[in-house]
Amino acid sequence: MNYLLLLLLAFLACASIHVLIIFILGTKKSKSSKDPPGPNPFPIIGNILELGNQPHQSLAKLSQNYGPIMSLNLGSIKTIVISSPKLAKEILHKHDLILSNRSIPDTIRALDHHIFSMVWMPPTNQWRILRRACANKVFSPQLLDSTQILRQKKVQELLDFVKEKNEKRETLDIGEAVFITVLNSISNTFFSMDLGYYNSSNKPQEFKDIFFGIMKEAGRPNVVDFFPMLRKLDPQGARARMNKYFGKLIDFFDGLVEERLGRERKLSNDVLDSLLEVMMEDNSQVTRPHLLHLFLDLFNAGIDTTSSMIEWTMAELVRNPKELKKVREELHQVLGKEQQIEESHISKLPFLRAVVKETFRLHPPAPLLLPHKSPQEDIEICGFMVPKNAQVWVNVWGMGRDSSIWTNPNEFMPQRFLESNIDFRGNDFELIPFGAGRRICPGLPLAFRSVHIVLASLLYGYDWKLPNELEAKDIDMSENFGITLHKAQPLQIIPIKS
Ligand code: HEM
Repeated sequence: MNYLLLLLLAFLACASIHVLIIFILGTKKSKSSKDPPGPNPFPIIGNILELGNQPHQSLAKLSQNYGPIMSLNLGSIKTIVISSPKLAKEILHKHDLILSNRSIPDTIRALDHHIFSMVWMPPTNQWRILRRACANKVFSPQLLDSTQILRQKKVQELLDFVKEKNEKRETLDIGEAVFITVLNSISNTFFSMDLGYYNSSNKPQEFKDIFFGIMKEAGRPNVVDFFPMLRKLDPQGARARMNKYFGKLIDFFDGLVEERLGRERKLSNDVLDSLLEVMMEDNSQVTRPHLLHLFLDLFNAGIDTTSSMIEWTMAELVRNPKELKKVREELHQVLGKEQQIEESHISKLPFLRAVVKETFRLHPPAPLLLPHKSPQEDIEICGFMVPKNAQVWVNVWGMGRDSSIWTNPNEFMPQRFLESNIDFRGNDFELIPFGAGRRICPGLPLAFRSVHIVLASLLYGYDWKLPNELEAKDIDMSENFGITLHKAQPLQIIPIKS
């Protein structure tokens, strides 16, 4: 019997047992008036087809029919979708403790990453220890201040690359260039070394390829996430590929740790030094595997989100020349002539900050946050039941474009944030691109500095135009859904020295 046929039979066998279970449970549940509403599921596949290519958009549309709390069956996985600030607050604030668990995509099980990873482990004592280590040793204001100079150097290298493009009158793939800047800013903050290069022709791009590979695998739909009973088979080979990517990074990080520990204690004053101190404390609960998987988490969570956010902002500004002009005027007024831009300038640039908030509203890098769940008990949310083990998605993309929250929600209007105090630090539930509550993104302080400083530097020195006499309206703003929301068509623009 050939392999494919075997696979198909296994799938059908599993699926039929499952459909029976869903049917039995489904008929029992339908008597409860407290189930959140949602579209009728098909047998076996449930509502998978409703997701389409752009699940965040499809779910936002569905919520217009079914309301701000919806229930879907994605294969055998019950999924609750939240689409209003009020309900997001219930999930991420009021029931934060119980709903801070994670539903785990199968690729994340590669090399047992889910066991050691701060992003994916349940909110246990171990998780708290790792969060504390991050807050004190990675993202504290003192540490970020002391490593500022390293990031400034990386931004200067980006500007050198832009200058080269400007002199040759060449177009720039801004997302790709900024990816290298953010990769190197993080790798220098953590390890005092570069991992990426702008001119790829004569330098290896191993790390860039690995991170791209991880993003691709993590973002691609995987049948195992809808039918966990197929886990052992890994029918798409996704976990096997992820094993290789994770393995390469873990080996690399382990080599750095080994080298640092073997060295006479000559300090580099970077994050690796600080975290090694934590690991070496007596009775430390931060073990070497925890440390290696933490680096895996921080690189994966930090690079793609930050760089894609900067690309979206540049796209919105080039598409809205009046706003581009305004933000450049503010930079010139505040900074004067030829100043080196520093992170401390951010507080003096209200319009730039409004531009960033407006981009987070329209293009949140994690459109459904990361999946939450309650593994132990059913929870009642505003009169509806969230059953135990259901995964919970918060559609921040949908909330950002909801006309009952924002006027002209599809327009890029940074001005709206000059007239309000809404911020994205987890207290204003209409704008939560970093999440809220105990699982809020711990990298927010670094992301905040990086996004503003890179944008300010790109916009201060250059005006930006489209190539080939393209017009602003021609920019393709379509999205590519994955664990991070990317621009489907990379933004190609020309820097004009001013
Ligand atoms: C624009 C940039 C970024 C955005 C929009 C972003 C967004 C998010 C979101 C939405 C979550 C999940 C929150 C939830 O589960 O409710 C998250 C978690 C996380 N982020 Fe970020 N992030 C960004 C940058 C960073 C950076 C720079 C780092 C580190 C270098 C980082 C590290 C993490 C980690 C470790 C978690 C998991 C926290 C946990 O589960 O306890 N992020 N981020």
